[in-house]
Amino acid sequence: MVERGAKIAEPKGKLGVLIPGLGAVGTTFIAGVELVRRGLAKPFGSLTQMGTIRLGKRTENRVPKIKDFVPLAELEDLVFAGWDIFEDNAYESAKKAGVLSDAHLEQVRDFLESIRPMPAVFDKNYVKRLDGPNVKKGANKYELAKQLMDDIARFKAESGASRLVMIWCGSTEAYLTPQEVHQDIQSFERAMKENHPAVAPSMIYAYAAISMGVPFVNGAPNLTVDIPALIALAKEKRVPIAGKDYKTGQTLMKTIIAPGLKARLLGLHGWFSTNILGNRDGEVLDDPESFKTKEESKLGVLEYILQPQLYPELYGNIYHKVRINYYPPRGDNKEGWDNLDIFGWLGYPMQIKIDFLCRDSILAAPIVLDLALFIDLAQRAGMYGIQEWLSFYFKSPMTAPGLYPEHDLFIQLMKLKNTLRYLRGEELITHLGLEYYD
Ligand SMILES: NC(=O)c1ccc[n+]([C@@H]2O[C@H](COP(=O)([O-])OP(=O)(O)OC[C@H]3O[C@@H](n4cnc5c(N)ncnc54)[C@H](O)[C@@H]3O)[C@@H](O)[C@H]2O)c1
Repeated sequence: MVERGAKIAEPKGKLGVLIPGLGAVGTTFIAGVELVRRGLAKPFGSLTQMGTIRLGKRTENRVPKIKDFVPLAELEDLVFAGWDIFEDNAYESAKKAGVLSDAHLEQVRDFLESIRPMPAVFDKNYVKRLDGPNVKKGANKYELAKQLMDDIARFKAESGASRLVMIWCGSTEAYLTPQEVHQDIQSFERAMKENHPAVAPSMIYAYAAISMGVPFVNGAPNLTVDIPALIALAKEKRVPIAGKDYKTGQTLMKTIIAPGLKARLLGLHGWFSTNILGNRDGEVLDDPESFKTKEESKLGVLEYILQPQLYPELYGNIYHKVRINYYPPRGDNKEGWDNLDIFGWLGYPMQIKIDFLCRDSILAAPIVLDLALFIDLAQRAGMYGIQEWLSFYFKSPMTAPGLYPEHDLFIQLMKLKNTLRYLRGEELITHLGLEYYD
């Protein structure tokens, strides 16, 4: 465990952000960073850029910005590289994704055009709805990992980056459960050499990154780095890892509202969630195997927040349903409806309806930025393995084996901020506050 007030290496030089999947989220993130750097827009939604942290007692009035409290990489120091199965540069890809306006894209067009995706490691069996020409060839999966490592080394040399992080923004892969070959590093490497079908492309990226000492973050619900072999490799190489699945639209709302209902002991009969979504992610999720991966990720949150085993009368019999419908006219502008059937005093029923007209990638981009900066901070602070303090950003937070994940957004935020206080040797905040009344 990292020590309280541990020395954190300064973020000297450039930080290279490696992105498998230069689609809607990846390009909205990169374009946004460049717009902010040029003073053309604000980084709303980003805790690292706009968030503050209270230190000490409420009477001390010490509330610095998070970025002034912990040594984070500056936006000016970020450089980017990516992989994709399509050859479109970041400008063309962003244009097709249709998230940002032409007015925004044209202002950073030169910059985006300079980012061309490297050929991807891809397997159509894992993403049935996609096919693209920009794909690596190799005798086996181990060799493909070596090619990724060459890409990483070349980018590091050419960009002059002093540090790197990798953050998965690729499509959601087909559902996969942990298997024998995922259990230890030797079996996993052997499986790669034997082209075992249980080694998904995202795992090959994660393996390449961790092997080279590069922190890895998984923004999709894929199993990817959440297997014993890669967790062990991360520990061995002293590399921080985090995942899974960015917590954005509907699940973000769920983890805001469910803790409130539970706090007031309001019961729940059912929670029906449906979405219409028309971007490429929506198209990929239209395939039942990719949807299954997403569904598992989305369904878990209520159970862990509401703890039916502790409150059987309130939450013992919930009907929870999640649907995603591919509807092209909406593009990235998703609409998420929720119907909650709740009950209160003496069992009287009530309903809550939520209609969230959100923009998926606008919600995801600041998360990508924060995760890239925080996982780099973790590495400089000497933290490695699963970074549970970053649960705040995920739908299915990775945890130590046997530990249930914490889904309540407010507990997650407290955990994140207390981790930062701990790293800086500041007192943790318990919100007890009795001392003010002595
Ligand atoms: N936008 C959100 O709110 C949100 C929230 C949580 C998770 N996610 C996840 O983030 C990921 C990206 O979402 P998006 O909206 O940008 O999707 P997208 O389809 O626009 O982009 C994904 C890109 O990944 C590429 N790709 C697929 N497999 C690849 C591989 N093996 N190597 C390299 N590139 C590959 C695709 O060609 C595509 O360009 C998805 O998995 C999605 O489920 C998004």
